[in-house]
Amino acid sequence: MKGYIVKLQPVSICAASGLRAEITVPGDKSISHRSIMFGSLAKGQTLIKGFLHGEDNFSTLNAFRAMGVAIDQLDDGNLIVDGRGLHGLCEPEDVLDCGNSGTTIRLMSGLLAGQDFFSVLTGDQYLRKRPMGRVLTPLKQMGAMMQGRCGGEYAPLAITGQPLRAIDYTSPVASAQVKSAILLAGLYADGTTTVYEPHLSRDHSERMLRHFGVEVNSFAGGASINGGQELIARDVVVPGDISSAAFFMVAALIVPNSELLICNVGINPSRAGIIDILQAMNGSVELVNERVMAGEPVADILVKSSELKGIEIDGALVPRAIDELPVISVAAACAEGTTVIRDARELRVKETDRIAAMADVLQILGVEVVTADDGMSIVGREHLGGGQVKSCGDHRIAMSSAVAALVAGEEVTIDDSQCTAISFPNFWNMIEQIRI
Ligand code: S3P
Repeated sequence: MKGYIVKLQPVSICAASGLRAEITVPGDKSISHRSIMFGSLAKGQTLIKGFLHGEDNFSTLNAFRAMGVAIDQLDDGNLIVDGRGLHGLCEPEDVLDCGNSGTTIRLMSGLLAGQDFFSVLTGDQYLRKRPMGRVLTPLKQMGAMMQGRCGGEYAPLAITGQPLRAIDYTSPVASAQVKSAILLAGLYADGTTTVYEPHLSRDHSERMLRHFGVEVNSFAGGASINGGQELIARDVVVPGDISSAAFFMVAALIVPNSELLICNVGINPSRAGIIDILQAMNGSVELVNERVMAGEPVADILVKSSELKGIEIDGALVPRAIDELPVISVAAACAEGTTVIRDARELRVKETDRIAAMADVLQILGVEVVTADDGMSIVGREHLGGGQVKSCGDHRIAMSSAVAALVAGEEVTIDDSQCTAISFPNFWNMIEQIRI
């Protein structure tokens, strides 16, 4: 048996005396995934501008290439996807490796359930521990033939494509990955498929399907789709990722003497909870130059150093800021008073257990944190300490730790710098470039 040892590359970050710059962050990860998927299913060629060159998105890109889709990368980084139509994908010769990407494996589960071929989806050591029953359960109700480890809870997943039937499904979790998997399966089902969710999760699938000419009905508690609708290719312009902008928003708020203009950021209301949260914490966060690109609202975000105060975060706000809660916990650590995060049990099943991982990081830096099953409370303090922290292989934990390091009294060393390539390949350069 072949064995190898992966050597982590640590990175040390020290405090900043101020941050001042005009920056653009890489393309939105969620929208980039969907642009490849829907472009592949469409009739005609889709030009994708602003595609995120992150490892997660290449997992999706490689999977579609393995199913016969021609995808060209142009010199300027843009992509051209030669769509094969709703029924044009081919059986992949090998297992499809989704790497670290939950969006890839869950959305593709829905898509592959209705194909007329066999496929297997797997991923890295972290993805293989994440729950898949949440997609297998509704897909099996639609007639999908799927298996996975531990009774279908974990990847690898084996899928024998089948004709599907439409269902009405009430999801126990507010998850865009679950909702999108069912809507994609619904494209291949007879009749109208409806998904209800407890709170609105990000609606990029619904918006982009409409952009490709598909009728999707969005309503207060969910969305529905009729099977058999063809997608017509249309160019996609991917805005900057608000989840990546989040690190710089918090950094500019907590580092004194800072002002950052973050240009061209997607501010879809189903994703923009961080803006509401930081403003409620007394943060100076201003939207300028608001506009719409390919069905998605976009703005430049101006952020200035602020005296933050603790707040309570729960309910419908949580899915709107789910990926930003790690870095919001850093803002909370620098705020006056206590911040309480509730209803965020989903954080336990992300790339790592983000409640445990952020509590560890903040406690090492001297912050008082009490965890709960569904969140944590964080007591803000004037100064953070330094130390050695662990990212647990999770890009957002590594980047949140780097933001905390900008206000730490001593150096902070993060064990793994490379995991940020999942969503933000240029992060370490950018965090240095913006210092005064
Ligand atoms: C995503 C949905 C979210 C989010 C993830 C990307 C998507 O997950 O955390 O990073 O692209 O649909 P859930 O839908 O499982 O909450």
